[in-house]
Amino acid sequence: MLVVKALQKSYGQGQGAVLDRASFHLPRGAFAALVGPSGSGKSTLLNLVGLLDGADSGEIVIDGMRVSSLSPTEAAWLRNRLIGFVFQSFHLLSRLTAWENAALPLFHRGVGRDERKSRALAMLDRVGLSDRACHRPEQLSGGQRQRVAIARALVGEPRLILADEPTGNLDRATGLQVMDLLRELNRDLGVTILMVTHDRDMARFCDRAIEMRDGRVQPLVEVG
Ligand SMILES: Nc1ncnc2c1ncn2[C@@H]1O[C@H](COP(=O)(O)OP(=O)(O)O)[C@@H](O)[C@H]1O
Ligand SMILES: [Mg+2]
Repeated sequence: MLVVKALQKSYGQGQGAVLDRASFHLPRGAFAALVGPSGSGKSTLLNLVGLLDGADSGEIVIDGMRVSSLSPTEAAWLRNRLIGFVFQSFHLLSRLTAWENAALPLFHRGVGRDERKSRALAMLDRVGLSDRACHRPEQLSGGQRQRVAIARALVGEPRLILADEPTGNLDRATGLQVMDLLRELNRDLGVTILMVTHDRDMARFCDRAIEMRDGRVQPLVEVG
């Protein structure tokens, strides 16, 4: 469902390759950990797969669609429909309530308010936050904020969830709960997840690991 072929990326002339022929593939419904030392290119790879940045060369295919080398407008349109993002620092909008935050991808699609609200509330319920729908981020704990972000990532029924250290700002117990939730959503909804983590305990929730070193992907390891 995700094919990454020989991605090459450097951040400027004379700079070394941050990604060096990075290649891997994920079947539909996979829950993959992207692991490797700091600076090995994990976030760069995630940004390229998330259509947030362009590669110098190589190919990305999501659900049979070749998504590398799109115009910025096409990339934005596809990103909104194909991909949900979860970040280490949540990236919620502080002036919006939990349900308004969760509904943002639908807002950007032009979905009307009533449908936005009902779908966001259903997703908040799914992540165990139905009683916090009208709270603002500052009134929520870290774990609750990350649940709102997960609801936002899923509300548009994307094919792929990309998560960059989603438990990095959470204490251990809360982090494990968030991993439990991601695993449950992966199983129940069948959504494919690619998650950067440097924490072995968190990677254990995944069914495979993609290991990066110096911009290259090491052979795929099945762990589950
Ligand atoms: N926007 C950028 N401009 C220049 N260099 C960057 C940029 N982003 C990342 N890098 C460099 O690319 C390399 C890989 O970074 P990154 O993908 O963030 O690795 P990781 O997420 O594995 O820690 C690092 O050497 C980093 O300094
Ligand atoms: Mg990183």
